Amino acid sequence: MKKALHIVSLAAACTMALPALAQTYQAGDWVVRAGATQVAPAESSSPLTLDGTVLPDPLGGTLKVDDDTQLGLTLEYMVTDSWGIELLAATPFSHTATVTDAMALQGLDVADVKHLPPTLSAVYHIDLGNNFQPYLGVGINYTVFFEEDTTSAADATFATLGLVGGDVEMDNSWGASFQVGFDYHLNQNWLINASVRWIDIDSTATIKFDNGSEIESDVEIDPYVYTLSVGYKF
Ligand code: NI
Repeated sequence: MKKALHIVSLAAACTMALPALAQTYQAGDWVVRAGATQVAPAESSSPLTLDGTVLPDPLGGTLKVDDDTQLGLTLEYMVTDSWGIELLAATPFSHTATVTDAMALQGLDVADVKHLPPTLSAVYHIDLGNNFQPYLGVGINYTVFFEEDTTSAADATFATLGLVGGDVEMDNSWGASFQVGFDYHLNQNWLINASVRWIDIDSTATIKFDNGSEIESDVEIDPYVYTLSVGYKF
């Protein structure tokens, strides 16, 4: 009798200890996430050069690039219960490059530029036995710059140096991407998500003038990319 009671209480304890069925990813799942993605450049740039020579004070300086937030989308396919292949897409980001570390040119907005940073990643999702699933990812990024334009303030400043017709171009960039994030599964289909990535984006900005002169700077944009989104699994 005593033994039977013991078994009954043990069974009851086991039943109570059983967690609610956790929502986690399974091989074959597709996940779409949509939300706000901020690209916050952690840039550094080489000093501005004119025809290969570093611009002397008071004209010298380096470039900094401001933040922008756009609609970010990811599409992920779960190859196994843990490993997914994820593509990051977004609406185009707009940034302004501004002269810094300078005297005469300090604060001059040189150019506006747009870019798209599609990134393909392998993502490892950790199963903690509940609805909270952190993940780590590593991937490859291709950043394409377009609609690069010198600002009218920059055009006016360059004109005082006899440089007219400035046409700015930024090289596209291939680089590595690393991310950490988590999904919280609300139910079988819906989830909330947050992630941060670091992407290695290196480019060279060149402004070509009518007289053949060029102002150039190597820019490491290397942004942190923050995303808050809602996801749907199917
Ligand atoms: Ni870099």
